[in-house]
Amino acid sequence: MAATRGFGIDVGGSGIKGCLVDLEAGQLLTKRVRIPTPQPSTPDAVADVVAEIVAKFDWDGPVGITLPAVIKQGVAQTAANIDKSWIDTDADALFAKRIGRSEADVAMLNDADAAGLAEMRFGAPEVRRGVTVLLTFGTGIGSALFNDGVLVPNTEFGHLEVEGHDAETRAAASVKDDKGLSWEEWTGRVSTYIRALESVLWPDTIIAGGGVSKVAKEWLPLLDVRAKVAAASRQNAAGIIGAAVAAAEGIEH
Ligand code: BGC
Repeated sequence: MAATRGFGIDVGGSGIKGCLVDLEAGQLLTKRVRIPTPQPSTPDAVADVVAEIVAKFDWDGPVGITLPAVIKQGVAQTAANIDKSWIDTDADALFAKRIGRSEADVAMLNDADAAGLAEMRFGAPEVRRGVTVLLTFGTGIGSALFNDGVLVPNTEFGHLEVEGHDAETRAAASVKDDKGLSWEEWTGRVSTYIRALESVLWPDTIIAGGGVSKVAKEWLPLLDVRAKVAAASRQNAAGIIGAAVAAAEGIEH
C-alpha cells in the first residue's frame, strides 16, 4: 500500500526547513520547523541541523532531503550558495549515517527539482502540459524543467549568463532585499532573465516558486515574458513536499 505520510527537509542558503507531509493531499501535516542555515554551511554543520529537525518529529520512515546543488547519485556536484566543501560530498551517506537511516531510506535531490515534483504532482493539471520550467526565487535562482510532467533533473538555469552576469546575482529574491529594490525594479530584472531563458527554450508555462511566491500578486502581473506564468501552488513548502514524495517513492537522480 502506498504511504500516506512522508517527511521532507529543504536545505536552503538561509534556512533549513522540515516537516511531516500528507502525501495524498500534498500538504504539510504540521507547522514546519525552520532553523537558520549554519555559517559556514559545511556538510557536518548542516547534517547536525538536519538531525536536530528529524529528532523533533515522531518519524522513523524514509526522509527526502534537498540541497541547493546539482546532485548525482546522492553526491553533490556544485555549491553556489552553500559551503564549497559540499562539492563531491556523498550527501546520501552523510545524512543516512547522521539520522540513523539506510542510504535507501534517504532520497537526495536538488531543491528546485523537489519543488517542481510537488507542483507537477499536486498543482493544477494545466501546468503539467507541454514544457514547464519551475523557477525558485530565494537566495539564488533554482530551476526544474519538465516535459509533460517528466523531469529533466539538475538544470541550472539560475546560472545563465545574462547581460554579462550570472543571472541569480541580478534577479534572485535575495538581491531585491540586499539592494532594496522595488517590486517594479526587481520584476524588470526577472523579466530580462526570463526572456533570456526564453531565447533558448520555449516553455509553455513558468511556475514561480520560492518565498516570493507567497506575494505573487505583487509582482507576477508586472512580468513581461512570453510564457504563461503561474505561482507555485505549494509556495515555499513545495521543496519539503517534493522531497517527501521522492523519499516515499525512492526517486533519486
Ligand atoms: C544552485 C541551484 C539551486 C538554486 C536554488 C543555485 O545557486 O546552483 O542548484 O537549485 O541555487 O537554491
